[in-house]
Amino acid sequence: MKNFTDIVEYRRSIRKYDQEFDFDPKVVERALALATLAPNSSNMQMWEFHRVKSPEKVELMKTCCLGQNAAKTANELVAFVTTPHKWKERADMNAKVIRNAFASKPNTPEHVFAYYEKDMPFLYGGQDMVEYKGVAGEEGENQRKEDVRVILNKSVALAAMTFMYALSEEGYDSCPMEGFEEDKVKELLGLPKEVDVCMVVSCGKRLPEGVYGPRLRVELSDVVKEH
Ligand SMILES: Cc1cc2nc3c(=O)[nH]c(=O)nc-3n(C[C@H](O)[C@H](O)[C@H](O)COP(=O)(O)O)c2cc1C
Repeated sequence: MKNFTDIVEYRRSIRKYDQEFDFDPKVVERALALATLAPNSSNMQMWEFHRVKSPEKVELMKTCCLGQNAAKTANELVAFVTTPHKWKERADMNAKVIRNAFASKPNTPEHVFAYYEKDMPFLYGGQDMVEYKGVAGEEGENQRKEDVRVILNKSVALAAMTFMYALSEEGYDSCPMEGFEEDKVKELLGLPKEVDVCMVVSCGKRLPEGVYGPRLRVELSDVVKEH
């Protein structure tokens, strides 16, 4: 792989991997390290990447993925998961960095610190919440929780995308999947109820027949709108 265009063009969703290929798990490890560099909302990094490597668990994960082709011959499956429960440690981490950065400036206005010390606890923890977006009570709280889910899933999806491109760079392949039984995945991986499994990504080395046909995309003019 030479440049980003090559990487993007090479990546396809693969439904059949080469079982004879000498799969190197270190490639997945490196790709996951790059995935952590994905942009993410407020740099809260509220994600986890659950690698399913052990042959027994891989088999169970394949069943969770409804036995679909994209999973069946995979060497590894990685679940990209949101971690809404980690908001406090992440907010504290960022707050500390900001406090340190401004330590020598005693006249720093409070709003500089408020983002991680007040706004994030409000958004993610519902702390000090009187109303949310002008909506009071249970309705406001539900709206907040829904918004948080969307925010977290956006960032996790970008991490999954970064992971898949990193695999492509090394000549490895993947398929993102939303076709899985989320409750069963959570049970298998010991995940709490409140997380979302955003995607499960299968990994391996493609067989030519693992690419289902030429790439199909609508016309650029149908999706790019200039204003
Ligand atoms: C969020 C998401 C969920 C997907 N779920 C599945 C899936 O469950 N099974 C599958 O075979 N492909 C799945 N795909 C792959 C798409 O079908 C594929 O990206 C699309 O057909 C375009 O093909 P390409 O990735 O080769 O360019 C999913 C892709 C995304 C982004």
